Amino acid sequence: MKKDSQKFLVVGGNRLKGKVCVNGSKNASLPILAATLLSEETITVKGVPELQDINTMKDVLTYLGARVTWTGKKIMVDGSDVQSLEISEELMRRMRASNLLLGPLLARFGYVKISYPGGCDIGSRPMDLHLKGLRAMGVVIKEKFGYITAEAPGGLQGTEIHLDLPSVGATENLMTAATLAQGITLIRNVAKEPEIVELQVFLNAMGAKVTGAGTDTIKIEGVSKLNAAEHTVIPDRIEAGTYMVAAAITNGDITLNNVIPLHLEPVMAKLKETGVRLTVNKDAIRVQQDAVRPNAVDIKTMYYPGFPTDMQPQMMALLSLAKGSSIISETIFENRFKHVSELRRMGANIHLEANTAVVKGVANLSGAYVEVSDLRAGAALVLAALAAEEGSVLDGIEHIDRGYEKMEIRYNNLGARIIRVKG
Ligand code: UD1
Repeated sequence: MKKDSQKFLVVGGNRLKGKVCVNGSKNASLPILAATLLSEETITVKGVPELQDINTMKDVLTYLGARVTWTGKKIMVDGSDVQSLEISEELMRRMRASNLLLGPLLARFGYVKISYPGGCDIGSRPMDLHLKGLRAMGVVIKEKFGYITAEAPGGLQGTEIHLDLPSVGATENLMTAATLAQGITLIRNVAKEPEIVELQVFLNAMGAKVTGAGTDTIKIEGVSKLNAAEHTVIPDRIEAGTYMVAAAITNGDITLNNVIPLHLEPVMAKLKETGVRLTVNKDAIRVQQDAVRPNAVDIKTMYYPGFPTDMQPQMMALLSLAKGSSIISETIFENRFKHVSELRRMGANIHLEANTAVVKGVANLSGAYVEVSDLRAGAALVLAALAAEEGSVLDGIEHIDRGYEKMEIRYNNLGARIIRVKG
């Protein structure tokens, strides 16, 4: 047991029913907040979820000298007075996404020094593609003692970049870096996630000239300056997907409001195969599951629009209870099966071999004392505990707070029984 960590006590066996309004997207908010520093003027971002990761981004921006005002779901960033261009190891370790400051700071100031990032412990997660792309834009990069120093005293140059793989973070850093570069930048084999399209919309609202997000190639025409802007972030497709699995695993009936169904298609396709009933409207989805066990289905995580790796642990929790065996292949991250040992403690029958898990469905899960190792693993364990026959204790829920706003309160409003205990 970890000292001082918070825990969830979860009493399983309740059907989740009701309506919930999905929050703004964490993974859209983080690059947008980082990109606010591209401008000297005040930027307003609305619909931001109240999460630990957002708090960390706020701390990083403040540390750099920006004035950040956070009220409810609205964050205003005044980056006119940025003083520091170095991000300490402590701040970088708290959240990997702090590396999204690389592109904006370089673009505006021509210099940045950051420590290698931390974040979820789901594999080595290098930054070679970010750095290779920046080098192609004329940035001189030194890597020493765990720090990356990047310099472009004469400004960045537009160029053509072909990513080896469609990394979300590399696409975002290179997009933001190119907004203030001289000339045109073409980035090929980019990530196509909705959060990339969202970043393009935001950058263009500030006066950038970005096109192509959502396709394989993004074109950025450099401009000399970016301006004030106001933007509302898209709904969080992973928070939404987690609620959908919650309805499925508890034989529940949940209506999600504030969703973009298109973004959830990869998840809905698999949920339908498991036998869940979905009613899809313009910006709402109703998820119903009768008192039956789900069908077994195979899942392979892929880049968008494939099945998202961020939903793999939650689906594994559901498939632990399936009629039959499912094969789950994780192709994005090398070490994203830390939930497996904990699900086994709850009675799941899962066999692991390299990046593939064979999940042989069992009729019931039992309550257990389990440890949360990372954000989405934590979500999976909450879901499993909601379905389990007895009570469970989840240790290390600070990982869950990074990406799920007031999870216990929001789930309890739907009929769950989750209690947060400190120490
Ligand atoms: C983002 C998401 C994360 C999600 C992931 C994949 C945010 C804040 N986080 O993370 O929730 O799980 O996309 O959808 O938006 N890689 C390299 N070299 C690089 C960069 C990445 O080899 O320079 C590899 C990584 O090790 C990983 C894969 O590419 O295996 C995907 O990583 P990437 O798309 O960059 O994920 P993140 O942006 O870190």
